[in-house]
Amino acid sequence: MKIFVNDKELEVSGKRILIEELREAGYNIPSMCYAAGAEHHPSCMVCMVRNEANDQMIPSCATFPTEGMRIDTESEDVTALRRMAVELLLSDHHARCGGCEGKEKCKLRELSVQLKAKWTRYGALTPVGEKVQEHVTGHLYYEPAKCIRCGLCVYNSKDGFTFQGRGFNMQVVIPEPSKPHVEECLAELCPTGALFIKKKESREE
Ligand code: SF4
Ligand code: SF4
Ligand code: FES
Repeated sequence: MKIFVNDKELEVSGKRILIEELREAGYNIPSMCYAAGAEHHPSCMVCMVRNEANDQMIPSCATFPTEGMRIDTESEDVTALRRMAVELLLSDHHARCGGCEGKEKCKLRELSVQLKAKWTRYGALTPVGEKVQEHVTGHLYYEPAKCIRCGLCVYNSKDGFTFQGRGFNMQVVIPEPSKPHVEECLAELCPTGALFIKKKESREE
């Protein structure tokens, strides 16, 4: 099947979601709640592209290509929408990047710089001061104030991770993972510093 991306023709199978086709073709499509090969439920709207054939913005992680699509991945409108999505995530975020132990893997930090997002565009929508770092088990830590509630850890855990609470107070409840490598996989999947493995030297005894 043929689609057009930024006015260039692209041959796609039609069997994979747009974000996968676009990334494979070399287009830079950001995402927060999508991770290749993992179960996900679209929620962040960071992966938006425009279908110029009907002038609609669509989440590329939740849309299959269709014949004749004309996808725009890079216009100012598309970038502005992605920036707004990131700014909404930041509005409820306890940003202390300097001392954040998950900063090396944090896509939120990377994207906020890339998209020139303002950290305070929507103000602090909720008090987050009480949500402190929790030692889950072994080397795994969870920091609710840095959780964007994307659900990647919940939908991909075989160990019964669940959400508790609603809206801005929602957070992940984490039972003890069964195996150390599960901890590492889930921490790696988390797109922020909310779920992370503490380095040996900084771990409390
Ligand atoms: S989770 Fe990411 S954005 Fe948040 S404080 Fe840590 S590095 Fe910064
Ligand atoms: S801990 Fe990470 S992966 Fe899990 S819901 Fe929060 S941000 Fe998403
Ligand atoms: S990455 Fe597509 S909605 Fe989050």
